[in-house]
Amino acid sequence: MAWDITVLIWLLLLIARRISKLMTYIVTTPCIDCKYTDCAAVCPVEAFHETPDRLLINPDTCIDCDACLPECPVEAIYSDMSYPEEYAEWMEKNAEAENFPIISVKQPALMAPGCTGPPE
Ligand code: SF4
Ligand code: F3S
Repeated sequence: MAWDITVLIWLLLLIARRISKLMTYIVTTPCIDCKYTDCAAVCPVEAFHETPDRLLINPDTCIDCDACLPECPVEAIYSDMSYPEEYAEWMEKNAEAENFPIISVKQPALMAPGCTGPPE
């Protein structure tokens, strides 16, 4: 029964998202070269897409559930209603997400030299 209610809430959120088209979440600069991927593993709708050095969120898939935001060790994820001004360009970059493959599981972090985040 609890599962039925969860699915119902998820569907209602999805419908509201489709109708409103007002919100999404975005991945920003701190993800570059880090790519921890913890975020992708908790997303209920497979909204994350993978590029060689970062993830992006598909705004047409994201249902604004907030699950991914606290998972990122470098605080790279923001709601499009409250992101730092210097990350404004990331709205457009995330809008290109569907051009890249979906990622929905945790993978070893990339941790390339440009990443300043903590080790896994
Ligand atoms: Fe996925 Fe929710 Fe994050 Fe959107 S806010 S990308 S739906 S986990
Ligand atoms: Fe990137 Fe943070 Fe996800 S570094 S891959 S947004 S957990």
